Amino acid sequence: MDVRSALKRWTELLQAAGHEEAAAEAGSLLAHALGCRRLELPLHDRRELLPAQFALLDAQVRRLQAGEPLQYVLGEVEFYSRVFACDARALIPRPETELLVEAALGFSQVWKKPRPKVADLGAGTGCIAISLALAQPQAHVCAVDISAPALALARENARRYGVADKMIFIQADLLAPFAAGELALIVSNPPYVPTAEWGSLPRPIRDFEPRNALDAGSDGLDVLRRLIAQAAEKLAPGGGLALEIGEDQGPRVAELLCAAGFTNVVVKKDYSGWDRIVTGEK
Ligand SMILES: C[S@@+](CC[C@H](N)C(=O)[O-])C[C@H]1O[C@@H](n2cnc3c(N)ncnc32)[C@H](O)[C@@H]1O
Repeated sequence: MDVRSALKRWTELLQAAGHEEAAAEAGSLLAHALGCRRLELPLHDRRELLPAQFALLDAQVRRLQAGEPLQYVLGEVEFYSRVFACDARALIPRPETELLVEAALGFSQVWKKPRPKVADLGAGTGCIAISLALAQPQAHVCAVDISAPALALARENARRYGVADKMIFIQADLLAPFAAGELALIVSNPPYVPTAEWGSLPRPIRDFEPRNALDAGSDGLDVLRRLIAQAAEKLAPGGGLALEIGEDQGPRVAELLCAAGFTNVVVKKDYSGWDRIVTGEK
């Protein structure tokens, strides 16, 4: 079958399964298999797919039909202008989390230090920790996650970008392994979804993404509360804290930071105008 016919066939199959972005999804799979950009697919219209290529793509379309997110099916995702391996071991990085990287890089007093120690709590794919390690090569970046499979994926991604040997990967509950005053910066996109909202999340999230990456108790602040209390102890004076939060959690998280003794507490909005990032200084 040629590329054009395959694109039509798979788009129709996905449309029949109710996918609103059927053409884009089928196009992304084909472009990935052919090693081109989606916009370049028309240049390959008449190219015949090899039987093995067709079988692989057909199996991938079935996975999409069953509701699996495109990024897991492709096995990769773009974050902060780089491509990261991505599978069911970790949450799919979201575009708004790039703002968290920006916020972390905004702590100029931290990056002026000769070897600042930085912890990314709940590293998942490692997208934040690795982006920081690449942007600030002098930093000592620790990727922490309670999930061993997520950490294994983070390590694979760090190898992909040549920073695995200069980072450390720690399986732990939040900041337990660090001594008081040891860290110059803590960055985290922790679980922050209230348990009662779990059932109303889209099915692909509920069925395929790890629940422990998202669910954070009755008000969604279980992890953030513990994390902020621990961060106040583990940061060195002048250290920075940058957190991603739920869209309605800005005032409460800012209050928690102030109560824990943080100064210069700022809530920043995402591309849709929702509160999304909170920063503070110890
Ligand atoms: C929202 S995901 C963020 C993943 C990645 N940093 C990102 O932004 O795409 C939260 C991560 O926190 C981890 N996590 C949950 N509870 C934790 C805990 N108590 N200590 C350490 N990590 C935890 C989960 O395994 C998950 O990888």
